[in-house]
This record gives sequence, structure tokens and C-alpha cells, in this order.
Amino acid sequence: MTILIDQPDFGVEAEEKKKIPNKENELVLDDGFVVPVTNSFGHNFRDYDAESLRQGVVENFYRVNHIKQTFDFVKRMREEYSKLDKVEMSIWECCELLNDVHDESDPDLDEPQIEHLLQTAEAIRKDYPDEDWVHLTALIHDLGKVLLHPSFGELPQWAVVGDTFPVGCAFDETIVHHKYFEENKDYNNPAYNTKYGAYSEGCGLNNVMMSWGHDDYMYLVAKENKTTLPSAALFIVRYHSFYALHRSGGYKHLMNEEDIENLKWLQVFNKYDLYSKSKVRIDVEKVKPYYLSLIEKYFPAKLRW
Ligand SMILES: [Fe+2]
Ligand SMILES: [Fe+2]
Repeated sequence: MTILIDQPDFGVEAEEKKKIPNKENELVLDDGFVVPVTNSFGHNFRDYDAESLRQGVVENFYRVNHIKQTFDFVKRMREEYSKLDKVEMSIWECCELLNDVHDESDPDLDEPQIEHLLQTAEAIRKDYPDEDWVHLTALIHDLGKVLLHPSFGELPQWAVVGDTFPVGCAFDETIVHHKYFEENKDYNNPAYNTKYGAYSEGCGLNNVMMSWGHDDYMYLVAKENKTTLPSAALFIVRYHSFYALHRSGGYKHLMNEEDIENLKWLQVFNKYDLYSKSKVRIDVEKVKPYYLSLIEKYFPAKLRW
């Protein structure tokens, strides 16, 4: 792996995450890799005692996220990260790198992150043995969390994890903690605060800017490195945290025919993403050859990140 960059300044406040307390009162988001927040719909909530503190942490996360994820911010981040000038490495090297990005608030620190990825992938493989592309999609879907790593700018939590949503049009009421959008500068901008905003009916979600995070980043990386994975795979990667879409059925007016087809796979995938954090240990070395063969099938040997 070649690390090509110093720590860039993205105008985001890395201090944000210092506000987040750790240990027992924390949350685990998504596959348990990252921190303190989670959506209100059941992303791996843990049974901690301090319910109210937890809600405060989650709420504060979304307050900052909803205020700062503006159309301009997303545009800036997409421009910066589309350069793909941060690191050169293979998919597997990235899986291993993710292991190094420790989250001190994660109670499962003893389980390497790669196990969470493989748990999701192996669970899907069991039920869909012939769809090898979806096994690989599961393995890679959270790799964008390397945005938390110093080599990638060490972005704050609110710019990496959490539910995602379109920017450039009205924020759907089903988005968790919707009220905080009132403090987003796009909220009162007539170019961005109508049903369609910067978009048009049926324009296709790939033409819609999503709040910036690990989902959109990994989507960019896969696409720009010319993966041969099917469009459903890219759809899963880009929208797996887009709960207003796949849980609440919002934003249908922006979807095209292909989106409607791909959404079916995202809904299948999401069940495994949420429930894969099992206690079943994965023997990484045993399954590694299979996943390496999939990586070889669908990706170049080295990717630009
Ligand atoms: Fe995940
Ligand atoms: Fe994720």
C-alpha cells in the first residue's frame, strides 16, 4: 500500500468527535466499526443502561450532521475525494486497513473489523450461494469508513457515518431528527428546498447528491476504478445508509426504472447488514481465498483511493 497524502484540510472539524464520550454509554453504529451514533430505526442498538445519555449522543450527532451536510459541503467533498489521490491499495488491503482504524467506544474491539465485513458476506452467501457479486458487495460496503483514518483526512464522525439523505432538494420528513435541518443553510434556499430542488422527476438517484459519508465515498472508489460489479452492487454500496429510501419509501419521485429494480436488492442486503453482528467467529484465513478470487474477478489488483 502506498500512502500518498498528508493530512488535508477539508474545513471540517475533527474536534467534533472529541465531544463524544466513550466506553459503557456508547453506541455502535452499523457493523460495530464506528461510533457513537445510530439511527432511530434499529441499527445495532446495544442494551446499555444509559438510555437518555445515549439518545443525547445520537441526537447531538444528527444535529451536527444535519446542519453541516449542505449541498456545497457535499460538492466540495466529492470534488476532493474524486481525485483518488490519497492511497493506492487493493480491496483486501483496505479490509485490513480498516482493522487499524480503532474505535475506542466499540465494545467489540477484540473482534477485528474484517470479521464484521465477512460475517455480513458469509451470511448472504449462505442464502444466495449463486450471487457471487452480492457476497463481494457485502465485503466492501463499509470500506469507505477508512475516511476516519489519518491517511484519508481523518474526517469527523458526522461526515462518515449515520443515515444518509439527498442534498439539493427538500429534506424528507421521515429522516431521523428532521427538525435539525432547520439550521441547515439549504433549508431556506429556494433552489434547494422544494420537492425536486436541483433535480427533476425520475432523474435517477445516481444524479442526486447524497450527504457525504462512507457510502458515497466507496461508491466513487468502486465506480472510478472501473469495477465490473453490476449496478445493483453500486446501488447497495451508495444507499445502504439511506433509510428514508429503503425503510421509509421516500424519494420515489427521483427514482428511475433501474433504481426501482436495484432497490429490491438493497432491501435484501439491508437485513444482513443489520443482523450480521453475530457471535459466530469467522475464520478469516479459511474464507480469504474465496474473497480474493471475487476481488480479482470484479476489481483491478490495485485501486486508487
Ligand atoms: Fe454495514
Ligand atoms: Fe455502512
